[in-house]
Amino acid sequence: MENILTMESITTDDVMRIINRALEFKKGRKLNIGNKSIMNMFFENSTRTKTSFQMAESNLGMNILNFDADTSSIKKGETLYDTVKTVESIGVDIAVIRDSQDEYYQELKDLNIHILNAGDGKGQHPSQSFLDLMTIYEKFGKFEGLNVAIVGDLKHSRVAHSNSSVLKRLGANLYYGGPKSWYTEEFQKFGEYRDIDELVNTMDVIMLLRVQKERLNVNESSDFTPENYLEKYGLTMNRSKKMSPNAIIMHPAPVNRGIEIADEVVECNKSVIFPQMTNGVFARMAMIEEVLLEEAQ
Ligand code: CP
Repeated sequence: MENILTMESITTDDVMRIINRALEFKKGRKLNIGNKSIMNMFFENSTRTKTSFQMAESNLGMNILNFDADTSSIKKGETLYDTVKTVESIGVDIAVIRDSQDEYYQELKDLNIHILNAGDGKGQHPSQSFLDLMTIYEKFGKFEGLNVAIVGDLKHSRVAHSNSSVLKRLGANLYYGGPKSWYTEEFQKFGEYRDIDELVNTMDVIMLLRVQKERLNVNESSDFTPENYLEKYGLTMNRSKKMSPNAIIMHPAPVNRGIEIADEVVECNKSVIFPQMTNGVFARMAMIEEVLLEEAQ
């Protein structure tokens, strides 16, 4: 695969190969690709994805080039295309890109540089999807027949967009929760809506989503009341205790503690939120290997 842009464009065989490679990296498999250079180009804020890619690249012995969006010529009005074309021209092999524009990568498709999508607007977040899938597979050893609920700000979430179709293709039973107005048509084809009190009794995986306050429009902002969101839609301690002993709680983070998840649930024994971040390093190592393997063939 030349680029990793959306989960829809990846076959389930390829998804499973990348997950299995990520698990091998976690078990200690070593790979050195020191002759390849990579640049992390983040035009939108990030803690986990950016540092996790940096750690993955360092583990692979790659040549990591610095890029700072705030001091780049983007600030002088240079286009994304010209910026990435420049990076291609100076010989960078892989660009890891996050941008607030949905499908920003469409304008880059003729460039001769591998692109790993680190998040496009409300579109896709493939590296988050791979680490989520890896975490679920590591815990349950399968996807077929698992009951998975994605709960919260579905409408604005690239995590919900990336995970829905691939989980469905892998055989999981998908459900959704959160404010009903955010359970839009695009999700209705993958799974049914359920109240959070019903979901906690029946799910193997509850994947919570951050309320993306920065992406709410004026009407949505006036509908969103942080004071009662947790009680109406979120995972409280009482609700988490109703989950089956083997069930897990996921969240891509950053977490709004006290809004979509109670503060004390974030690190409770069912939560895999921080282990997800650990897996993110290995998942990203496997993604980098995948695009470079394509070159070797
Ligand atoms: N989960 C995630 O994408 O986190 P960051 O925005 O911190 O990268």
